[in-house]
Amino acid sequence: MGETRTLEPASGPFQAGVHTPGDKSLSHRALVLAALADGESEIVGLAPGRDVAATLVALERLGLRRNHDQFVPIGSPKHPDAPIDCGNSGTTMRLLAGGLASMPFRLTLTGDDSLSARPMVRLVEPLAALGVEVTLSADGTAPLTTGAADLHGADVEIDVASAQVRSAFELAAIQADGASTIDGPGGFRDHTERWLAAFGLAETDGTRTRITPGSVPGAQYLLPGDPSSAAYVWASAALVPGARVVTPGVNLNPGRLGFLGVLKAMGADVHGEVTGSIHGDPIGTVSVTGANLCSVEVSGDTVAAAIDELPLVAVLGAYAEGVTIVRDAAELRVKESDRTQSTAAMIRALGGGAEATEDGFEVLGTGFLDGGIVDAAGDHRIAMAGAVAATAAQGAVTIIGASVAGVSWPSFYETLEAVWSSR
Ligand code: S3P
Repeated sequence: MGETRTLEPASGPFQAGVHTPGDKSLSHRALVLAALADGESEIVGLAPGRDVAATLVALERLGLRRNHDQFVPIGSPKHPDAPIDCGNSGTTMRLLAGGLASMPFRLTLTGDDSLSARPMVRLVEPLAALGVEVTLSADGTAPLTTGAADLHGADVEIDVASAQVRSAFELAAIQADGASTIDGPGGFRDHTERWLAAFGLAETDGTRTRITPGSVPGAQYLLPGDPSSAAYVWASAALVPGARVVTPGVNLNPGRLGFLGVLKAMGADVHGEVTGSIHGDPIGTVSVTGANLCSVEVSGDTVAAAIDELPLVAVLGAYAEGVTIVRDAAELRVKESDRTQSTAAMIRALGGGAEATEDGFEVLGTGFLDGGIVDAAGDHRIAMAGAVAATAAQGAVTIIGASVAGVSWPSFYETLEAVWSSR
């Protein structure tokens, strides 16, 4: 992925209000539910990046129709004449593996090199219990096939805290001929569970969710901002004592709040206020003010609730006093890159001390980074975390392969630089 981008450090404590792009996780879910619904839906504020575009295009090929913010469900599905390309998006592939399981034909889902190396085998057993035959390549990765299933209710337990696996199961289970349950480790984002509960199709008791099949109503989705995008500007403010950013209207699902807890634990001043909700999923305003940071250890359930933000924890750790440790996060190894390695390499490339471990990484906080050249490793979250590292660096930071940020936030660098120059 091309383009090189150089960011000069921010000068002094900035103050900014930032509207972050629409929530990516919710955007995928709103599109799948609109495609399966029994009436028209309205979706406002879809996430702008290539990941959500992949879900939209996939569903349009099957018959979803879009007119601005209005979406007409698939109805009678069209057989796509070629495999469906999910691009770089794991959420697209995993949600569609379940959501499209009852299409009246088999479908092949493919992805780019990164997605084609990610584990899909975790979908096979839970979906098989519902009667879905998911096939994969010999090493358990895409291309993946799904579809033509006669879905029946099933009770499953999974061993990974993955919202994507749970969602795949639940989106298939609402189309089955009987009730289903899924249980597994906690800490995951329960967006799908909350929305299905709002539509009368799910009940959740702790980590156990019971799905009662039924039709999905056409609905209005006024999507909030993405806390995983907001996290970059929160982290940037946290690095400069006295700098402050305010992000109104972001999703505050408990399974997305891990990073805010980490920021607090490191000494940043963090305030969050719930101002509303979308079908049972909270929305609110978050402000973060920078301070001198201390190191932190991240483990257990916090890992799932901060999973996409862990590269930022490394950046904060480099600027903090002490050793920052992330453990219980082997899942990082199967993200868009092996983020145990790519995160540690990013910190080292900027003059800091960091090592990947089996299930996370360790960062030696020296209170500063020199700047330097970071290879994005084809991973949007590494590119963007590298840019955030420029905030308080001694010199410029150059990101090689910077345009990969377009997977989740196409105008990210411009927004970050505008934040740095706001007073
Ligand atoms: C997502 C769930 C998480 C997260 C990903 C988006 C989702 O993945 O890392 O960026 O929208 O369900 P897992 O469910 O695999 O942990």
